[in-house]
Amino acid sequence: MNVKQLAAEKAVEYVEDGMKIGLGTGSTAYWAIRKLGERVQQGLKITAVATSRASEEQARELGIPLVAFGDVDHLDLTIDGADELDGRLQLIKGGGGALLREKIVAMGSTRMIVVADESKAVETLGKFPLPVEIVPFAWEWTVAELAKQGCKPELRRSGDELYKTDNGNYIADCRFEAIASARELAMSLHGIPGVVEHGLFIGIADLAIIGKKDGSIEIVEGESNL
Ligand code: A5P
Repeated sequence: MNVKQLAAEKAVEYVEDGMKIGLGTGSTAYWAIRKLGERVQQGLKITAVATSRASEEQARELGIPLVAFGDVDHLDLTIDGADELDGRLQLIKGGGGALLREKIVAMGSTRMIVVADESKAVETLGKFPLPVEIVPFAWEWTVAELAKQGCKPELRRSGDELYKTDNGNYIADCRFEAIASARELAMSLHGIPGVVEHGLFIGIADLAIIGKKDGSIEIVEGESNL
């Protein structure tokens, strides 16, 4: 049983003819894009905006009509994965490095469905190091400022090189262990010059579809819907 596939394919049931869809990034979103491709080949009419080059490429290969984010006035639904989610549907995202585009696309969508396997569901966010996208200029200073927030930041690498996002920036993975208030931390991070965006998604996800090893699916409504 592929639980990521289970959750992702359930989310695709929410896609209707004529919708403008945000395509997430990562190994769970992959299954959603694959299923969407199947439905497009069967006649579903949608247009989509991708959150990364990888998702764009996958969608193109499957024949999903793609447009640039600037060419749509809004998106109806974004389906994306998460690295961690709590019971209030606060998320940590960015394990795949696409957090900036993911946040823009999710916030530009009327609804966001997060798809995940049960290992991603946590009581308190923070075991997964929080990805923070930072500009290359004076990155050492920005990383030192991040450490003052009570974490151990580590600049992400890709082999021997520093990892670069699709936007040409670096990622600092910030190990907090437990984030007491995601909302407060989000505000503090935005106060640091050099921080482009962070991977905390608060009040953005409307619904979570969580696949479980026993083959069942749990659907959790976000606080905005309660
Ligand atoms: C990509 O930048 C991330 O935000 C992903 O959505 C997140 O890392 C989840 O990825 P997986 O579905 O591969 O675990």
